[in-house]
Amino acid sequence: MEKIHYIENIFGGEEIKSLALTIKNSELKEHTTLGRIEKQIDPSKNQFLAKLTETVSQLFEKDLILGPITYVKYSSEYGEPNLPPHIDRDKVEVIVDYQYNSNTQWDLALNKTIYEIEDNSALMFNPNKNIHWRPIKIFQTGEYVEMIFFRFFETKDGEIISDYTNILPKEGEYNPEILEARNYREMCYNGSYDRLKDHTML
Ligand SMILES: [Fe+2]
Repeated sequence: MEKIHYIENIFGGEEIKSLALTIKNSELKEHTTLGRIEKQIDPSKNQFLAKLTETVSQLFEKDLILGPITYVKYSSEYGEPNLPPHIDRDKVEVIVDYQYNSNTQWDLALNKTIYEIEDNSALMFNPNKNIHWRPIKIFQTGEYVEMIFFRFFETKDGEIISDYTNILPKEGEYNPEILEARNYREMCYNGSYDRLKDHTML
């Protein structure tokens, strides 16, 4: 069973201020199809991220290094926020899905479990082994969710050893587990669904 962690109150006030400044000064990339805007964050501007790397390495019991960091803001202003079930196909061993700021609830789901997530909290998992998605949600005008994705690679003797670029079915190929998750998501939309609120169960 792949490890999944949920951590609350990740950063202190000063660290959040530092992140806010970095986000403000980072260059904007537009993503119209997913109802979001995106910015790449420079990790060197946030020295405290060494602490996060250490925490995540301990939790997953692996030698991890911090890779690309992406800030994302989902809002109806940018289209229709949507995240259907998928798996990534890259070199990331652990992703920290950190909810930076929000004014509405948008749960995060791994496989067939839906997790409630709060500001300054994060769900941590291997995005190449866990099917990840969000429930279908119609964003009302003014509603938004801001996330920061911290990606970690596994290393050995200074080399990146995590690599999931070739082992998974290529995009468009038949993957029964993803289809199952997509059906489950549709089913959740048509009725109410259970969320995992007690993260100590992880
Ligand atoms: Fe993904």
